[in-house]
Amino acid sequence: MGEILKIKNVEKYYGNKGNVVKAIDDISLKVSKGEFIGVMGPSGSGKTTLLNLIATIDEVSSGHIYIDGQDLTEINQKNIAKFRRENLGFIFQDFNLLDTLTIHENIALALTINKTKKSEIDNKVIETAKELGIEELLSKYPYEVSGGQKQRTACARALITNPKLILADEPTGALDSKSAQMLIEMISNLNKDLGATILMVTHDSFTASYCDRILFIKDGKIFTELVKGENTRKQFFNKILDVVALLGGDVRDVR
Ligand SMILES: Nc1ncnc2c1ncn2[C@@H]1O[C@H](COP(=O)(O)OP(=O)(O)OP(=O)(O)O)[C@@H](O)[C@H]1O
Ligand SMILES: [Mg+2]
Repeated sequence: MGEILKIKNVEKYYGNKGNVVKAIDDISLKVSKGEFIGVMGPSGSGKTTLLNLIATIDEVSSGHIYIDGQDLTEINQKNIAKFRRENLGFIFQDFNLLDTLTIHENIALALTINKTKKSEIDNKVIETAKELGIEELLSKYPYEVSGGQKQRTACARALITNPKLILADEPTGALDSKSAQMLIEMISNLNKDLGATILMVTHDSFTASYCDRILFIKDGKIFTELVKGENTRKQFFNKILDVVALLGGDVRDVR
């Protein structure tokens, strides 16, 4: 299996002299094509920082991040948005759908910016919407569909450019437990059925139990790693709970 993401000795500092926060402290890791990786850890441990560095939203202080072999530090600022559009998909906590655009237009957005032909865009939108069971809703606006249908739209939008890597920061964070379960099952299907490689930050042990592997971060470092392997989801869930208890910090995931 190919290596989609490689992080090598990355450090990230915020602030300036006298008032420096070390948000990421020498993290190295690798993610293979088709993996579904979870990132967990207490509040302030550096999860979002790590995701933003991979997302090219923020720059490393030292070290290197490679996406499909491309060193992010070598992409100049002018090309970074293009790189992000062509290689990465995002699922945001609030889904970030634009209310003035239809479901179809929301899903098509990334392709529109890429200057893809209209007929090709339409075909891809319909194909992706079918995969997520929302093809009937394409002419509606976000405020006319349910929360679950919004989630599906957000997944379709993340998927449509066929990104090398999908990044999700607390995708289930704002949802009630039933909606959270529906969304994580959908994200898990993007991985299992459609082969998407996914890196997801979550506080929630139940959500995390759908992953193949979980990285636990503490004080900007990798504290430990759990692999699902032959465990059932239930067994994996219990192992995750054990590590979360060990890690301490804010445990917001009792369910
Ligand atoms: N833009 C910034 N400027 C200064 N410090 C920052 C900035 N962003 C994050 N930090 C600091 O870096 C550390 C890691 O923050 P980060 O947002 O990555 O944590 P997190 O693990 O995502 O936490 P949470 O679970 O609460 O979302 C924290 O100490 C935070 O205060
Ligand atoms: Mg965060």
